[in-house]
Formats: sequence, structure tokens, C-alpha cells
Amino acid sequence: MKEKSEASSEFAKKKSILEQRQYLPIFAVRQQLLNIIRDNSIVIVVGETGSGKTTQLTQYLHEDGYTSYGMVGCTQPRRVAAMSVAKRVSEEIGSNLGEEVGYAIRFEDCTSEKTLIKYMTDGILLRESLRESDLDHYSAVIMDEAHERSLNTDVLFGLLREVVSRRTDLKLIVTSATMDSDKFASFFGNVPIFNIPGRTFPVDILFSKTPQEDYVEAAVKQALQIHLSGMMGDILIFMPGQEDIECKIIYYRLEDLENAPPLAVLPIYSQLPSDLQAKIFQKAPDGVRKCIVATNIAETSLTVDGIMFVVDAGYCKLKVFNPRIGMDALQVYPISQANANQRSGRAGRTGPGQCYRLYTQSAYKNEMLTTTIPEIQRTNLANVVLLLKSLGVQDLLLFHFMDPPPEDNMLNSMYQLWILGSLDNTGALTPTGRLMVEFPLDPALSKMLIVSCDMACSADILIIVSMLSVPAIFYRPKGREEESDQVREKFSVPESDHLTYLNVYMQWKNNNYSSIWCNEHFIHTKAMRKVREVRSQLKDIMVQQKMNLVSCGSDWDIIRKCICAAYFHQAAKLKHNYRGLKYPLCSLFGMGYTPDYIIYHELVMTTKEYMQCVTAVDGEWLAELGPMFYSVKQAGKSRQVSKNDLDHLNSPKRSNIGVQ
Ligand code: CDP
Ligand code: MG
Repeated sequence: MKEKSEASSEFAKKKSILEQRQYLPIFAVRQQLLNIIRDNSIVIVVGETGSGKTTQLTQYLHEDGYTSYGMVGCTQPRRVAAMSVAKRVSEEIGSNLGEEVGYAIRFEDCTSEKTLIKYMTDGILLRESLRESDLDHYSAVIMDEAHERSLNTDVLFGLLREVVSRRTDLKLIVTSATMDSDKFASFFGNVPIFNIPGRTFPVDILFSKTPQEDYVEAAVKQALQIHLSGMMGDILIFMPGQEDIECKIIYYRLEDLENAPPLAVLPIYSQLPSDLQAKIFQKAPDGVRKCIVATNIAETSLTVDGIMFVVDAGYCKLKVFNPRIGMDALQVYPISQANANQRSGRAGRTGPGQCYRLYTQSAYKNEMLTTTIPEIQRTNLANVVLLLKSLGVQDLLLFHFMDPPPEDNMLNSMYQLWILGSLDNTGALTPTGRLMVEFPLDPALSKMLIVSCDMACSADILIIVSMLSVPAIFYRPKGREEESDQVREKFSVPESDHLTYLNVYMQWKNNNYSSIWCNEHFIHTKAMRKVREVRSQLKDIMVQQKMNLVSCGSDWDIIRKCICAAYFHQAAKLKHNYRGLKYPLCSLFGMGYTPDYIIYHELVMTTKEYMQCVTAVDGEWLAELGPMFYSVKQAGKSRQVSKNDLDHLNSPKRSNIGVQ
């Protein structure tokens, strides 16, 4: 009896999935789409967010037989989208995730021999093209979310254009949620554009009368006002970054109100653990309103049904190359008009909606750009340069980019690769550079791994690099801050955050990789498991590349020197403060330990600049390992690293490098 009812409920579920699929706007044009793809190698597909491009196109191609001679690949600029969409499509097809439908993101491959439909980040496909330049495993590639113009997507554009000209059996589909698709079409040689007729409802747009000083405060206030108004429908709030997505503040405010109806506040951002991410797609219990607080991840790459209200703070975080510090910094910027329109569109998917913009109409008209500047024109290109060089692209300035990066960016990135020893004076890849490409890491991290083999501390550096590749190892629960800080202090190695990481990993290992141990020490078990996985993947590459794995035991000075060999260009010298930086913050200072020189892993820009993950280094190491920046001056008895030390931060010297 029980079996029967389970079977029929399973049937009901299947039926409803089929119905859902057939209700999507793309379903009405399924056959036309398949025809145009049959007749053309490259097609641009334009459709509003939620029309079914990401979840349906792959399945249509599968149903039309394309998976009989290769996989159908679909790239996403964001990891979250790749994972969540793959999960959804595996449910629609009725198979386990990782079998017929799988996904791959950096350090996580959830595919198998059986996989026919593969969702992945654009970075993954880019790296696959290194191993297999014609992408022979694929019969079709969908480059999804092309309007986002992510760095990797832009590079793939140039590469895939060539692949399609060599492989007549490969289909390339480029999808976009916006209408400015003519540019895509002409880039690929006047290929056809297919428009999916939309099904959207009107959205009332309400601008703020005056500029808001505190967007978090304003957004919370607006959301609660909607909640208490009695109007039905879920709320979606757009915030610039993860740290603004403090959902608790909404609950606190709600508690202050009497008789407020129940509200489920759900955050979504790219670093959120995936089980929590999945929550935004689940239906809230009856009578409970959902309030999703998101970064621009919910702008086009994730569709949540049932949103009637959008609250738009008007900002997003962008990675932008900062010439003053010579590296990329994630900073908060006003969104573009295109972003604003996408955001408001989220309110009109299932019925008429409202969008509250927390900025003035005049700011929208006069201060916002029409579209965001593509990433390729604003970020460091070191990784791209390395990749293209190893693909044999000699003259990067001649590579076919849809929007070429500013020459200065390109030269700057080449300069950085030169100081790391991956390009020679003529701009050609060195053996070190060739080896660096093998690692899915930032150039300085790969360099650190490579140097560590010569310095006989590769096993230790491997752990440090793995720890640095996983965000948020420690946590600091509200109300237990002091306790967790004390526990954390036990791991601290005064002269180095990097060594502190090594210490944490070693102790975890000595405790049999125990999760209880993690909990006791305010360490995320999941993050540590991930570190272990990353370590094992990087180790495989090292073994493959015949790199020695040796530990230096307890001689940790060698490790600091090795870190210095890859990060000497990110150094600071103590004056009253560390020169070049306004407000340094790291574990060293809390302990009253102030070395003369330090190197940092990264800079974080908020309202101030912070160095993150810092290690004390010897001034003479800087001179020895970064001779293009530093020299040792003899002043009386004391030896000092000379004044030219940090000048490079302001004016990169790149006259030494040949431009190619
Ligand atoms: O790519 P596009 O924005 O055109 O649409 P899509 O991502 O294929 O989404 C189509 C529909 O699939 C959405 O309206 C959602 O109802 C559903 N979907 C879902 O339930 N769970 C996901 N993880 C993704 C999509
Ligand atoms: Mg999509």
C-alpha cells in the first residue's frame, strides 16, 4: 500500500517537472531553435532571465541526438550557478547528479564516464582547451550568460571562434539575457540571433527621492515596510557584497515589531555553502514570506520563482586593477543601468511586481554607466597571458578579443609574469612559466610551489597553498568571540600567518582529520576537508610534473624564505606604519610583534586597506630574491634594504620586458 502511494507521488513529481518544463517560454520555440542550430555552427540565443535557456537548451540538444557523439557542455561565469543548475537538470532528467548530468568547478569535478551534459565554469573549459585545443570531447558548447562578459568568457570567445572554424561538427551557442546581442553576432561573423519571446509582467519602478547614506539600513527598512504592508509575494534584496548580507539585522528589527507576520530571510552569495544556497529555491512554509538577500549573483544567473518585490541598493562589487598597488582589488561600485534593469526584471517573472531603487532617478540617468565595463578591460591579466602564451599565441596584442584590453593592462600583467620568472626578456614563456600553467592557481601561488621544490620544503608549501585556496577556515560565532580568539591564538605562529595555516593543518592531521577536533577549535570542518581535497589534487599535478615532495621538518625559516621568493613584489617596510599601506591588520600586530619587513598574500579594500595573510621576512631575502626591486645599502654598521623598496607599487617598471 505504502509502496503504491510512494510510486504515485513520484509520478506526480515527475509530471509536475514535465509541466514546469513545458510552461517555460523556451518550450514554445523548441523546434525552431533546434532547426536553426542544425543549420548553423554558431547561434546567439537571447531570452529574458527565467525563460529556460540554462536548464533547457542542454536537454534539447541531448534529446536531438547531439550527445551521441560528444558531450553537451555549458559554461557559467559563476560556480554557484554551475552547481545549482546541474542539480536541477539532473532532477529534470531523473538521474543522479554526476552521472548523465554533472558539473565541474575548480578543484571539484562531479562528472563521470556516463556524463552527457556537463555544466562548468568558463575557467574550467578554458583550462580544458589547454589539454585538448579542439575540445574533441564536446559535440556542442553553450556559452551561457555571455552578457556578463566575464574575463574567461571573453577569452573563450576568441578561442572558440577558431575552434569552430576548424571543427565543422561542433555547435556553439552563445546565450545572453540582454538585447545587445548584435555585437556577439558580428564578432562571430554575422551569425543568426534567435530571440525567445518573453513572458514578463509589468514592474513598477520606484526611485528614492533623496540619496541614501546607508544602503544596508535603507534596504532593511524598505523590506520591512513591504513585509508589513500586507501585500503578497517574496522579496529579493540586492546588496553589493557578502558582508552586507547580514540577515540577522532584519530579524532583530522584526523582533522589535509586535505581531509581525513570519519572514524567512535567506542569504545567497557565491561563498555560501551549497546546502544553504539550495534553500533559496525551496518553497517557504505556508504563510511565510521569503526574503532573499543576494549579491548580483541573483541578477541573471539564478532564477527564483515567486519574487514580487525587488529592493536594489544600487551597488555591486567589481574586481578592478588598482594601479597604485599594482594588483586587483575587489571594490564596491555603483551598478550600471543594464544591471539596474535586470534587477528590476526579477520582480516581474510570475506576476506584476514592484522594484524599489534606493537611489535617485537622477543618479540612475546621470551617474550610472549604460553597461558595466567588461572584466577584461579592468583586471589583471596575468593568468590569461600565461594561458594564451602556452596555447602558442605569440602576439597577445593581436589576439582576437571582442573588446581588447587596454594595452597598459596587458603590459602590466606581462611585467608581473616577468618578475615571477615566467616570461623572459623577449616575452616568451620560460620553463618556469610552462610549469606554472599546469596549476589552476594564481601565478604567484604556482611560483611558490615550484620554488619550494628547490628549497626542499614542497610538502609544507603544498599545504599552505591549499589552505590559501579555500576561504574561511576559522569561524567566530556571535557571543563566543573571545573564546574562539583564544583557541585560535593557540595555533598562531607569531612571525607568519602562512605558518599558522600550516600549523592548523598539521594538528588536524595529527588528530586523524577529526571533525570533532575542528568543532572544538572553531574551524570549519567542511573547509578543512576541501583543503585536503585541494591538496591531493595539487599533489597529483606535482607528481605528474615530476616535482619532488619533501618537508623541511621544523626549519620554518626556509618556508618563510620560500614564500618571500614568490611574493617579494608584495612587501611592506615598517616605518611608523607599514609603508605603502594605511592600516595593516594581521595576527602579527595583535601580538606586539613588529618585524621590519613583511610580505602579504593579498590586500583587501574596504573603507581602508588591509593586508591579509602576512609573513615576516628578512630584508636581505628581499634583495636576494627580488633584485629588480630591492638592493642592500650599507649605512654605518647596519645594513638596510634600500629606499627603492616599495616604489614599484606606484610605478611599475616594465621597460625591461619586450612587448609581444
Ligand atoms: O537561463 P534562464 O534564465 O533563461 O532560465 P533557467 O535558469 O533555465 O530557469 C528556468 C526555470 O527553471 C526557472 O524559472 C526555475 O523555475 C527553474 N529552476 C529551478 O527550479 N532551480 C534551479 N536551480 C534553476 C532553475
Ligand atoms: Mg540562465
